[in-house]
Amino acid sequence: MTIETDRLRDLVAAELGRARDRTTLLTESVDEGDLIRQHSPLMSPLVWDLAHVGNQEELWLVRDVGGREPVRRDIDELYDAFKHPRRDRPQLPLLGPGEARRYVATVRDKALDVLSRSRLDGTPLVDQGFAFGMIVQHEQQHDETMLATHQLRTGAPVLEAPPPPAPAVPVTGEALIPAGPFTMGTSTEPWALDNERPAHQVIVPAFHIDRALVTNGQYAAFIDDGGYDDPRWWSEAGWAHRQSAGLVAPQHWSRDGDGWASTSFGRTQRIVADEPVVHVCFHEAAAYAAWAGKRLPTEAEWEKAARLDPATGRSRRFPWGDDPPAAEHANLGQRHLRPAPAGAYPMGVSPWGVHQLIGDVWEWTSTDFHGYPGFAPFPYREYSEVFFGPEYKVLRGGSFGTDRSACRGTFRNWDYPIRRQIFSGFRCARDA
Ligand SMILES: [Fe+2]
Repeated sequence: MTIETDRLRDLVAAELGRARDRTTLLTESVDEGDLIRQHSPLMSPLVWDLAHVGNQEELWLVRDVGGREPVRRDIDELYDAFKHPRRDRPQLPLLGPGEARRYVATVRDKALDVLSRSRLDGTPLVDQGFAFGMIVQHEQQHDETMLATHQLRTGAPVLEAPPPPAPAVPVTGEALIPAGPFTMGTSTEPWALDNERPAHQVIVPAFHIDRALVTNGQYAAFIDDGGYDDPRWWSEAGWAHRQSAGLVAPQHWSRDGDGWASTSFGRTQRIVADEPVVHVCFHEAAAYAAWAGKRLPTEAEWEKAARLDPATGRSRRFPWGDDPPAAEHANLGQRHLRPAPAGAYPMGVSPWGVHQLIGDVWEWTSTDFHGYPGFAPFPYREYSEVFFGPEYKVLRGGSFGTDRSACRGTFRNWDYPIRRQIFSGFRCARDA
């Protein structure tokens, strides 16, 4: 065993432990009733997420990488996300909270034993710890989903976190990103998922992009100007959805005198004007952008603004460089339970002067979710490929609820354009 393998193994074990600590916090901060209950038809019961996380870990690390006997083959079907839509999951004979906790602990013991014996190279699945990294990201992604479930839960608040930092620098206006090629995606990031691969050159015409995310105050001005009642600002599909769903404001907003309040993890307060708006769907984001005389950025524009280093022509891992995200770079990892105002993370700025591309809120782009040129499904088709097509829009950059292990300049999220239970916001762009 080389020192590098030992070091990688320690890193994997630490990341698995960090993910499990977060899962434990999210599942032990509520009572059994709240674990079993479905808080929204869009979400699974928390106890389903918990055992599903363990089941994926069993399938990939214990059985596939480790070649071990199944722990609970009998429950594979229950926790296969493709077999049961979320709305049906509460009716399934799921493991109870105690049983689910024992199951994930048993699987984790075995996965750590597999890790201690794996050389972490030799096959694409384990090379540089990929399968372990995939499972770390999977658990952290479900933790973000569970955090969204917490946001939909009613009742007394159970989660606490300090407020995000205050603005340290003023951030206004737009950055001009000149025309020219840049390298999009990655072929070298060891834990990048199939949809981020391969690296390929994209030529992007010159464009302007907002240096800051759209704020609550700006969004409230759109509402006050009758934005929700004027079909001019909405696409045909967006207007139809606005009408049928009765949209009048972002999710979790309520009238407060002549202003607005929002409810966040069980606490209702007046909206903070300079905080990024969150819980808007793609159609709302696109309508706001049209009202503002702008548009949403394409996915390639977003990534170019986030990764291209004009000094070298190279695409970096993050807006600030190649270093992994630290607390001063971005609002990630559920350290705070809300997005931060523009200027709160001056250390995270891109070379173009664009702020908070990573963290705070997932940013809607105008791009449908597709594979890059040369895409190859790995390690299974259901990871990404079955979602490719015009039904899904790409979101970028991660939110305050995204862990750093599941977020980088190349990371792609996708969802239906009507969804807003996720921590979604946006920034605007326009042609140069
Ligand atoms: Fe999953």
